[in-house]
Parts: sequence; structure tokens; C-alpha cells
Amino acid sequence: MTDREWAALEAIETRPILDLFKAEPDRLSRLCIEEAGIRFDFAKTHLTAAHLDAFVTLAAAADLAAKRDALFAGDPVNASEGRAAEHTAERGQGAPESVRRAAGLHTRMRALIDAIEAGAFGTIRHILHIGIGGSALGPDLLIDALGRDSGRYDSAIVSNVDGAALAEALDRFDPTATLLVIASKTFTTSETMLNAQSALDWMEVGGVADPYGRVVALTAAPDRALEFGVDETRILPFSESVGGRYSLWSSIGFPAALALGWEAFEELLEGAAAMDRHFRLAPPERNAPLIAAFVDRYYANLRHAETRAVFAYDERLRLLPPYLQQLEMESNGKSVTVDGAPVGRATAAITWGGVGTDAQHAVFQLLHQGTHLVPVEFVAVTEPEHGLAGEHHTQLLGNCFAQGAALAAGKASDDPQRAYPGDRPSTTILLDRLDPATLGALIAFYEHRTFANAALLGINPFDQFGVELGKEMARAIDSGGDQRFDPSTEALIARALGPATSEDA
Ligand code: F6P
Repeated sequence: MTDREWAALEAIETRPILDLFKAEPDRLSRLCIEEAGIRFDFAKTHLTAAHLDAFVTLAAAADLAAKRDALFAGDPVNASEGRAAEHTAERGQGAPESVRRAAGLHTRMRALIDAIEAGAFGTIRHILHIGIGGSALGPDLLIDALGRDSGRYDSAIVSNVDGAALAEALDRFDPTATLLVIASKTFTTSETMLNAQSALDWMEVGGVADPYGRVVALTAAPDRALEFGVDETRILPFSESVGGRYSLWSSIGFPAALALGWEAFEELLEGAAAMDRHFRLAPPERNAPLIAAFVDRYYANLRHAETRAVFAYDERLRLLPPYLQQLEMESNGKSVTVDGAPVGRATAAITWGGVGTDAQHAVFQLLHQGTHLVPVEFVAVTEPEHGLAGEHHTQLLGNCFAQGAALAAGKASDDPQRAYPGDRPSTTILLDRLDPATLGALIAFYEHRTFANAALLGINPFDQFGVELGKEMARAIDSGGDQRFDPSTEALIARALGPATSEDA
């Protein structure tokens, strides 16, 4: 039970952010952490020294250290599904047996990449990666962030079952020069299976004599991939204990490793491993993922903020917000504790966001003058990597830092329309450069922050039963069976999909 610790937290006085800089002279050094080429600046939040102490006490009462040890030891921390969550083993941090198994699977993945590079599949110019959720968002983020200049392959990550998504890639690609990558942990996800079948048909019509000979499957269910028709030499398995939204380090990262090169993929894993060590070993008051989770809990539970916004001030990180939406909302969007009891307090905030500076001209009005409290996170990179650096980058970073300063300072005015209340919180995450190692560390930071949030709340971040009911109903609608729905849904089905099954409204 942690009620006493939460009550202690609620009793701590809240003070304006800028006053805290005066009241706590060491605030900046205490709330800025430098790790793995990243500066995490939590100083412009309302977290006081007293809050930090009380959160450290809460973490102890919630057994966070023991839960973290269990995660790295490969214990069954995903209690509802009776299995471990071993994404850290993919980067060499975990139970020795799991680390060995992951390394063996990586070796296999590398051998296939070497064979493709050596021309074993003929000329490959396009990678068509089909997957959804965790089987798409990670590779998409990696390739978009790091693969802009690599020019090795033209790749498309197709997830939506809307044929318009697949058609766009098919129109662009030459079927005879395409490698089809089917990514699905379960190898049963209906969107992925339909898209994969349509892509195979397209290859056949396009003159590929043996379309299955150009397929690579990434899955924790190799038997199903085999049954689907993929040759076992081109099935890259990963462990069942690696969760979908934590899987980019496993064979799910294959298109990124192919597009960016194996060395880059290894650097990504090493960067994540550095963050793993930091999360495991740094004391709570200097532990970046843990302090980030304290900030999350402060705003969600003590200040009742319902959302948190992430703005990437770097075009290469534009897919970070959608990646984090799955990581944070699918992991911690729960209402019951690991024991099935009502959790009794707000869990995951709604993650949303966008790209700076674009977002400044669209949604920042609400952040500066609206009625909602929205903790904001800025993610920026010190070194640009494009030919137009100079003035562009100075303006980009200047805007990013100005937004954080303006949110905190506000501005008084006699005219209420023109007044800024200020005292609005933000966190700034500043990467030295965007390279594979730093991106690996950044993503691992978010994973551990998500885990730490779950540990403080006593919930399981590794299951996602909430997505099942909708899938079940979609199957029922698709099959045209006997299941009946509410009148509104029945009318929609009748109008768009077929003859009325009930009173047509
Ligand atoms: O529907 C949710 C989900 O199960 C995610 O957790 C997962 O990342 C995604 O679907 C895709 O699942 P799979 O990799 O098994 O196709």
C-alpha cells in the first residue's frame, strides 16, 4: 500500500516555477541530468526538493527497485500473461540465458542482411515492410530519423488496412526489385495478413516468378509464418517475452538494420544498453527515467493534468510522438492494479504532440493561454545534419528554448486578452546529436520511464487486453455473422456494408 506516501506528496506546498529557482539555488544542477549524450532538464517543472524526496519514498514503498531487478532478471513481470518482459536482453542487459538467445537471433538476422547485401535475392531496391502497432512504429521511427541520407534502399512501412496506404507504396515500387518484410509478433493480426497477401498478389502480377522467395518474416510465432508459406531460412524469430511495443531491438528492427547498416543497428543497441545501466544503477535522485516518471505522476495525480504533450524540435524526430503514444498509452492506459483491484488514481496521461516550430503556429495558443494544464516536453538536437544549418538551426533551437521560457515566465498585461498566466511546466530533452547510439538511449529512456510510472502505480505495463474487444467485434462485422450491435452501429453497417440487419434508421 502506498496511500500514506501519496498523502504525504499531496500535502507538499506547490510554488511557482520561477520562485523555485530562487528558493533552491542548486535547482538547475539537481534537476538536470546528463547521460548517454543527452541532457534531461526537469528544472522548469513544479517538482520541489521536498517533492523529489517524497517521490523517492513513494518509489521505495512501491518496491520499485525490486520490480526493476525483476524486469532485468527476466522474472515474469507481465503477471496477467505469465511471462517476462525481456526487451533489455536484446541489448545485452538481462538474464544470461535470454541475452545469449537474443544474441543468437541477432546473428541470424545479420547473416540474412549480409546475404541480401551480397545479392542472394537479386537486385533489391525497395523494402516493403508490412506490420502494425509495435511491428511498424519502431522501424518507421528509426528509418525516418536516421535513414534520410543513407540512400541504401527506398523503404515503405505500411500498417493501415486502408488499401490507400498499401496502394501508395505499390505505385512507387517495382515488384521485381522489392523485398517484402512481414512483421507480426503473433502472425495473426488481420490488417497485416491482408496487406501481406495483397502485396504478394501484386508481386505475382508484377512478374515475380516466386513471390514467397522474396519474403522475410519477423515474428515470435515462426510456425505460423511457415504455415503462411515463408521459407524457414527467411523467418527471423524473436522471443515471446519481447512485447510488441518494445520490440524494435529484436528482429522487428530488421528493415532498419538493413536500411541503416548493421553497424548502426549495433550502435543503437549499445546506446540503449547505456540507458539500461543508468536506470539500473543511478541513485533515484539522479535517475533520468525515474525523475521523468515522478514529473509524470506529479502532474497526472497531484495536479490532475489529463494529457502531456511532446514536441520534437527536429524534423527527423517527427515520428517520436506517435511512437510514444503507443508506448505510453498502450502500456499504462489501465484501470486496475496487477492484482486486479481498481487503481484509484489517474494512470497514463494522454500523450499527444507534434513538431516544432510547426506546432507553435497551430496548438501552442492553448498551451500559453488555454484553461488546461499541459506539461510539455521539448526534444531537440544540438548538432544539425543538413546543408542548411546556420540560421535555420539557430532559429529552430531559439524557438524551442523560447517556448519553454515563455510558458514558465508568462507576461502580465492590463488587457486580459493579451496576458499570459505563465507558470506552465516544461521538460527539455537535448540530444548532442541524432546518431544511432543517442536515439537508442532516448528510446530506452522512454521505455524505462513508462515502466517506472507503472511501478509507482502498481499496474502492469506489459499487457494490452483493452485492444481485444474492438478486434472481436470487427471480426464479427467482417464475417457478416449473427452478432447484433446497438441500433446506431447496425444502421452504419447496413448503410455502408450491406443490407439492413435491423431497423434501418
Ligand atoms: O492491437 C494491439 C497490438 O497487439 C499491439 O500491442 C501490437 O504491437 C500490434 O497489435 C501488432 O501485433 P502483431 O505484432 O502481433 O501483429
